[in-house]
Amino acid sequence: MGTGRARLAASILDADLGNLAYDVRRVVKNGADRIHLDVMDGHFVPNLTFGAKTIRALRRRTEAPFDAHLMISEPGRFIDEYLDAGCDSITIHVEIEEAIEPTLRAIRARGRAAGLAIRPNTPLSALEPYETLIDIILVMTVEPGFGGQKFMREPAQKILPARHLLRHRPVGGEVHVDGGINRETAEYVGGLGVDVVVVGSALWVKGHDQAREIRLVKALADEGYQYNLNNGVPPIPRDNWIRFTRLPKPIARGFMAEIEAGGIPVIVLRGDGQMNPDGLRDYDLLVPASAQVLSEERHASDREARVIEADAWREEYLRAHPEAAAVVAADRAADRAADRAAKGT
Ligand code: DX5
Ligand code: ZN
Repeated sequence: MGTGRARLAASILDADLGNLAYDVRRVVKNGADRIHLDVMDGHFVPNLTFGAKTIRALRRRTEAPFDAHLMISEPGRFIDEYLDAGCDSITIHVEIEEAIEPTLRAIRARGRAAGLAIRPNTPLSALEPYETLIDIILVMTVEPGFGGQKFMREPAQKILPARHLLRHRPVGGEVHVDGGINRETAEYVGGLGVDVVVVGSALWVKGHDQAREIRLVKALADEGYQYNLNNGVPPIPRDNWIRFTRLPKPIARGFMAEIEAGGIPVIVLRGDGQMNPDGLRDYDLLVPASAQVLSEERHASDREARVIEADAWREEYLRAHPEAAAVVAADRAADRAADRAAKGT
């Protein structure tokens, strides 16, 4: 696995189906981050592949994550089979006629990632009713059904706005692109900020060095993301963590749980602030930079309340522990000195 941003899911549609376990192990060894399993029912698409039984058999042969892409008309009937087979994520199509929501909920209930795929001509708005129920959006850049088709540029435009639909999952949500991804197209979709490139036929060309192909596609996607198509500005900020607030531990814990309940991850680190019950210092609550705006929107007023609560808590603590007052006074003096130094006075 490289250090870049883009992840590669190997579609096994064009692998040697007579030797599937071998090919899956080989492609993982050669650098694929996960396996993309194209299930077709001959009805939703005019082609037929394999089902849950095959996936279950493969599951025993590799540790790589499995993404199932169900191109079937009635995923609801079979969803338990795919969950039991050990898929880490299951993506169904938004164009099917049966109810979508129960299936997404069933996937989530088992702790797996739930995805929705859209055909090239389906607008992104079709996903809106389900946006808080999905972890993955799979943007199709060919008509589903067959590997080896030509990449379509127009539907790829949905990649960047798809990110916005996943804003309830500021970290962990993923946009995948599927269809015609290879050396020629990887840089372009990377520039649109795609998280996972699904690559099928390009990986299974006889005589080609598969590991090299995987390295190239990933490197090109990263190149597009970082430089070529955005004048050096990544379309989605790379995550670093910023301090959202600073609180004594018991209050920090409650606030952390509240923020995380909305899907924003929080790290609590011992800061260098004033004091708290089990010793001397406050704790920093960090959120991912990409979730900063959302955190402010949702929790700014609550943060104010917690800061006031923290002040009251400290006063109370000092009354009960008079010996701590000296420590706090020293801390505050140090803070003031640091402030002065920072201002250069
Ligand atoms: C098409 C499948 C794709 C396909 C990709 O219906 O969903 O996953 O295997 O293959 P390539 O990369 O050849 O377009
Ligand atoms: Zn697929």
